[in-house]
Amino acid sequence: MSYHRITLSTFLIEERRKTPAFDPELAALIKDVEVSCKYIASAVSRGKLAEAQVSTMVNIQGEEQKPLDVIANEAVLKVCDSTEQLLGVVSEEMEGPYAVTWGRNGRYLLVYDPLDGSSNLDVNLTVGTIFSVLRAPEGAKEPKAEYFLQPGTAQVAAGFSLYGPSVMLILTVGRGVHGFTLDREVGTFILTHPDMRIPEETREFAINASNERFWEPPVRLYVEECQQGKSGPRGVDFNMRWIASMVAEVYRILIRGGLFMYPRDTKDPSKPGRLRLLYEANPMSMIVEQAGGAASTGRERILEVKPTSLHQRVPVILGSRNEVERLVSYHQAFD
Ligand code: AHG
Ligand code: MN
Ligand code: MN
Ligand code: MN
Repeated sequence: MSYHRITLSTFLIEERRKTPAFDPELAALIKDVEVSCKYIASAVSRGKLAEAQVSTMVNIQGEEQKPLDVIANEAVLKVCDSTEQLLGVVSEEMEGPYAVTWGRNGRYLLVYDPLDGSSNLDVNLTVGTIFSVLRAPEGAKEPKAEYFLQPGTAQVAAGFSLYGPSVMLILTVGRGVHGFTLDREVGTFILTHPDMRIPEETREFAINASNERFWEPPVRLYVEECQQGKSGPRGVDFNMRWIASMVAEVYRILIRGGLFMYPRDTKDPSKPGRLRLLYEANPMSMIVEQAGGAASTGRERILEVKPTSLHQRVPVILGSRNEVERLVSYHQAFD
C-alpha cells in the first residue's frame, strides 16, 4: 500500500487551513521539536558509539544519567535555543527552567523528557522523547518556574517520539492523535497513522510486577482478577507486558489498547508514584484522552492535577477507557 505522502509540514499547514486559530508560531515550534527528534534518533541509533566524551552526573531525580540522556537534552536545547516563539524550557535533566536565548518575547513554554526509558539503552530497546507545550503568561519576559505549574488541561500540544525499529512521532494539537513515520531516505516524517483511537476494551495490562508488595489494595485486587483469567470474576484470560519505556507502552496501547499502571506504592512514601507529572504523565494523558482513552491517578483525572513543583511525581493509570474506569471504581470502593 503506498501512502499519500502527507509530511508533518503539510499536516501542520492543513491544520491551519482547517482551524485558522491554529497558531503558526506553535506550528513552527512543533517543527523545531521534530528537528530535535531527528538529531536524537541519529544519536540513539549509534548506541555505544555515541557515548564518547560525554560527562554525566546524578540528575535532579537522583538518577545516574546515561550519556544519551545528556546528548538528547542538549539536542533539544541546541535546536530550541534559536526558537523565537519559546520563552523557556523545563527538562527532566535540568533542575530549573532554562531561558531560551532568542525567546525573550516567546509566547510558549516547552516541557520535555529528552530520553524516556533510558534504562533500556544498554539492552538496545525502544526509547523516546516526550514533550508538552504550554502558553507563557502574557508579556512574560523570563521563564519563571511558576509559569510551568499549569494543569495538563492547559497544554496546547503534546507528543512523543519513538526510537525503535522505525522512528516515529506521535502528535496531538487538541484535534485527535496522529502518527508519523520517519522516511530515513529523505529525512521526512510521513503521516502513517492518522486519527489514532484506543480500543475501549482490552485484555492486556502493563505493570512492574516486582513492586507487588508495595501496591495499594485496589491495584492488588485489579491485578489478581486479571491473573485469575477465565476462572476468575473477569471470565477471560489477560496478557501482561512491561517494557520499562513509557513511550513504548503508550504506543502499544494506541495501537491495540491496554491498561498501563505505575500506581502509587508504599516503596518510597516521599514519592506518590514514579512518573513525573509535567513531562511524562500530562503529555501522555493528553495523547491518551485525545485518542478516546482515559488517564487517572486512581483518585483524580491526571490532566486536572494542580502542579506544585516542576519534577513532582504522580500515580499513573492510563489506557482503554473501560479498564481505567474499573480500576478508579476500585479506588473509590477502598477509600
Ligand atoms: P526515564 O527513563 O525518562 O527516567 O523514565 C523511565 C520511566 C518510564 O519510561 C517507565 O515506564 C518507568 O520509568 C519504568 O520504571 P521501572 O524501571 O521502575 O520499571
Ligand atoms: Mn530518567
Ligand atoms: Mn521518562
Ligand atoms: Mn528521561
